[in-house]
Amino acid sequence: PLVSMNEFLPKAKANKFAVGQFNINNLEFVQAITEAGMLENSPLIFGVSEGALKYMGIEYTVAMAEAAAKKSGLPIALHLDHGSTFEVAMKCIRAGFSSVMFDGSHHAYEDNIRLTKEVVKAAHAMGVSVEGELGTIGGTEDDLTVDEAHAQLADPEEAIRFYEETGVDALAIAVGTAHGMYKGEPKLHFDIMEAVTSKIPVPIVLHGGSGVPDDAITKAVACGVGKINVNTENQVSFTKTIRESLAKQETVYDPRKYLTPARESIVEVVREKIRLFGSSNQA
Ligand code: G3H
Ligand code: ZN
Repeated sequence: PLVSMNEFLPKAKANKFAVGQFNINNLEFVQAITEAGMLENSPLIFGVSEGALKYMGIEYTVAMAEAAAKKSGLPIALHLDHGSTFEVAMKCIRAGFSSVMFDGSHHAYEDNIRLTKEVVKAAHAMGVSVEGELGTIGGTEDDLTVDEAHAQLADPEEAIRFYEETGVDALAIAVGTAHGMYKGEPKLHFDIMEAVTSKIPVPIVLHGGSGVPDDAITKAVACGVGKINVNTENQVSFTKTIRESLAKQETVYDPRKYLTPARESIVEVVREKIRLFGSSNQA
């Protein structure tokens, strides 16, 4: 069965590794991420954005994740990514999600606390883990774009109080990463990470994990990042492989012919991330 993130996040925090949240967009993503998890014997988090949920349908989403958990025997959390309302979080929990993110970062600080608290109370009553977010992460995800001027780093004191008041199981804070591809190299604020993780018992979450240099990831994990989200890198690899296959074989019409190598490419990307995050053999 699908598990809450509390099945593995406390261990990640204690043993200084991070569990990858790999976003799922279709069946091939689910298969590839699961395959990589099995090869590395790693816990997994399937991230589902509201856009992806709409695309796949909630019933298919839950059924594919449950099939992956059953087939692999791995601890897998099915996690709503950037949930925007209490209602969408409850809808996902009722449908079988084992974890949800409530992203109240666009609300005023006190409102974010109040709204996140409501989700935590309801979710915890059902054994579902909750991730909250503080500060504004730049870049583009689904239809939401935050430009650099509006990306706001998290304040450590506010982050600590946010944890204390809400009781979230994981806390996403803006530390300089952005969603989507980077133009230059991202500047990560390790001092903010350290100031927060040393004062709260739960791990912090790094969003916008795609394109962050390996050494920055390693340093972030050492600073107490226990969950890292990756979506764009898999999307880029999948689509690039399909493009190349189609260009090479102009008469191909069987989707399996070009989706097989695309799916294979995700297995490789995810395996490397799992090794980098240190979650191999932690299942
Ligand atoms: O919530 C999802 C992640 O933060 C994905 O970010 O697409 O830049 O890897 P990314
Ligand atoms: Zn994100």
